[in-house]
Amino acid sequence: MSRTLDLFVPPIIAHRGARLRAPENTMTAFHAAREDGAVWIETDVKLTQDGVPVLIHDETLERTTDGVGNIADKTWAELQTLDAGAWFGAEFAGMRIPALTEFVAFARDAGLRMNLEIKPCAGRARATTMVALIEVAKIWPESAPPPLISSFDIEALAVAAQLHPAWPRGLLLDEWRDDWVEIMGQVGATTLNLDEELLTAERLEALRPMQIPLLAYTVNDADRARFLLANGVHAVFSDDAGALIKAIR
Ligand code: G3P
Ligand code: MG
Repeated sequence: MSRTLDLFVPPIIAHRGARLRAPENTMTAFHAAREDGAVWIETDVKLTQDGVPVLIHDETLERTTDGVGNIADKTWAELQTLDAGAWFGAEFAGMRIPALTEFVAFARDAGLRMNLEIKPCAGRARATTMVALIEVAKIWPESAPPPLISSFDIEALAVAAQLHPAWPRGLLLDEWRDDWVEIMGQVGATTLNLDEELLTAERLEALRPMQIPLLAYTVNDADRARFLLANGVHAVFSDDAGALIKAIR
């Protein structure tokens, strides 16, 4: 395992920030995750129509903002007029969709570790990865442990490998595929980031001797987290990192 990646301590990654306590992928959710004791935070990166990397999970605006339509069709200025918090609770009204750079500066200043999931809108893998990594490199200190760049999108990982080969990459899978070793080799991935439902006891047993750093999403149940961590999983993504950190102490 790479030196920079055996540091999943605590082995809980805040999924989209403290997603059960605050609107996901907002600065408030990231601050809450840090207050909860998370060291690693995962977030989802997409590109606006005018090329600004922003943090939002869905391709469309409806679920997590008061806007409508596709992220890929909206400019940064348009996105900034939207409320990204009121859907979660009235006290969060006025939250904005953050720019990637805002999160990166926060993580840098707070000494946090970042897992940037490149989640490109359709057809935008190359552009999203290039712009995101260029923006991150401008503000992330070379002396700091690098971000983990992950994606379901193989092209995104390949572009990340060209641009910043020394930054570790994680291959995300939400469905099992038997050629994962080959794909990891193609893009030089360090971690295998799996939907936790794919981790049957048999698979855990088969994966263990391979010593691949395994990350599992999304685990909110303490017993399941303990089981996975005791059976070869290096870290789990949780919507409530604070609760799991306390539970597994
Ligand atoms: O990176 C782990 C996890 O976030 C991947 O799935 O849909 O929650 O982004 P999703
Ligand atoms: Mg994600």
